[in-house]
Order: sequence, then C-alpha cells, then structure tokens
Amino acid sequence: MTIFRCPLCGGPLFEVPGGLRCPRGHRFDRAREGYVHLLPVGQKHSLSPGDDKAMVSARRAFLDRGWYAPLREELEHLAVKYTGGEPVVLDAGCGEGYYTQGVRQALLSAGKAPHAAGFDISKFAVQKAARRCPELDLAVASAYHMPVGDGAVDLLLNVFSPLAIEEFRRVLKKGGCYLYVVPAAKHLWELKEVLYDAPYPNEEKETPYEGFAYREIVPVSYTVHLSTQADIQALFQMTPYAWKTPGAGKARLAALPSLDCQIDFRVHIFQRES
Ligand SMILES: C[S@@+](CC[C@H](N)C(=O)[O-])C[C@H]1O[C@@H](n2cnc3c(N)ncnc32)[C@H](O)[C@@H]1O
Ligand SMILES: [Zn+2]
Repeated sequence: MTIFRCPLCGGPLFEVPGGLRCPRGHRFDRAREGYVHLLPVGQKHSLSPGDDKAMVSARRAFLDRGWYAPLREELEHLAVKYTGGEPVVLDAGCGEGYYTQGVRQALLSAGKAPHAAGFDISKFAVQKAARRCPELDLAVASAYHMPVGDGAVDLLLNVFSPLAIEEFRRVLKKGGCYLYVVPAAKHLWELKEVLYDAPYPNEEKETPYEGFAYREIVPVSYTVHLSTQADIQALFQMTPYAWKTPGAGKARLAALPSLDCQIDFRVHIFQRES
C-alpha cells in the first residue's frame, strides 16, 4: 500500500511486480532499497537535485550521534498528541529518514497504526532512508508537485525542508496537523561567533498561513558539548555556513579543541482549517 499517486496523471498507484502502476499504464520501478522514483524529468532542475551524497552522509553521521535527539523526541511526542488511531503521516523533504522513523516508532509504541511516508527530491537521501527503515513508504519527489492526493494526510512534517505551503494545504486533511520546525534566534550562536566577526541572530516570526490555524509553538532549546574536532566539523558541515564561511572563520573553527553550542528550535504547530 502506498499513499503516493501517479506524478504524470494523478491516478492511484497499484502494486505490480517490480513496481507501481496507475490505471492509465504509467509505470514506476521500485528500487532495490524499496522506494519509488516519482520525479518526472520536467520537474528536475539538475541531473541529481537536492542534497548530494556527501551532504546526506554528513547529516546521517551527525544525527546518529544523537545531537538532535531532543528535537526528534519532541516531534515524536507531538505526533502522538496530534493524531488519531490510524494516522497517515507524511514527512516532506524527509532527508535520510531520521525523524520519519522516530515518529513512526513513537506512534506504534503509543498503540497506534500509522502509515508513515516520506519523500525527498534527493535520491541519495531516500536511498538511505529506505535502508534505515524499510517499513516506510518512500519516494523521490518534489515538494512543489507532491504526488499525493488531496486531503490524504493526517500529519505533515517539515524539518528544515522547502516550504511548499500550497501543496501542504492541498494534501492535508481538514483538521489535520502540520509540524514545521524552524531555527530560533540563538540557534548555533557560539558556532556563528567563531565563524563570523559580527554574527546576527535568526529572525523569529509567527507566520499565519491561509487555511491554517496556529495551535502552539513549542521551543526545543539545549546546549551540545562537542569535545572533538570531528564532532565540531560534523555540526559545521550540516549548516548552510559550510559553503559561505570565509577562510579565516574556518581556520578559527579548525583550531578549537571543543565547543559548547546552543541548539534552539521552534516547532510551529498548525491545524488545517475545515
Ligand atoms: C536540511 S535537509 C533536511 C532533511 C531532513 N528533514 C532532516 O532534517 O534530516 C533539506 C532536505 O530537503 C530536500 N529538498 C530540497 N529541495 C526539495 C524539494 N523541492 N522537494 C523535496 N525535497 C527537497 C533536500 O534534498 C534535503 O534532503
Ligand atoms: Zn498515470
């Protein structure tokens, strides 16, 4: 069973040997790892869109060290709180599946029967997610043309991935919830102090979206104690600063024996209005 639909005609997809097929005869092979590729050539802006292999591997290594585990735990808690007994969960821009898997597991542990799905535009990310958790319903797809039916989703997650609010509004069931994770003012502050002469805090704002009502904003704030250069570099490589920091900042970072750094997120919880 899949929640995904044909990216070419929007029809439902049925299991056939080796893949999925819609009633009009469009066919999509299932990769060895179990995911399907639902990104038509016309929606690709490059040969391999999204995060590349190195970025996905860096994120996997960092997340598996547990540095963002408090965020995952909060998302797990919120997923249980905001769903019924048999929720359809969709992680938009799921990356290598760290949060998708955690949320699925938490829903199961709470005695629910979730259908947990995720997609990402990066084939490398989806490959890794499928290997991490073969039980997930996974596809390579774009957030701006989600191959998902109207009102098909009970709980939508977006953790640092593109905000495609019109598509999110379309696929969420009325009364369904949307968890949107954003960095707060002091996120990675001490890292930025090392990298830049005059760092500035992230802007924090409440953004009402048409068709959605705010339920709550949950802070997730703590400090990580990075005691090796390997961990410091793993954090740095996860951030957008990795490709825009001047050499002097990078050199200062490379000379640090350890770094205590604030992690500061907000989870914005929206409900799709009926
Ligand atoms: C910062 S990563 C976050 C991944 C994951 N949510 C996590 O937190 O571990 C952003 C992800 O968005 C994906 N992405 C970028 N553009 C996208 C699009 N148009 N549709 C779907 N995913 C996209 C990237 O490939 C990448 O995996
Ligand atoms: Zn079709």
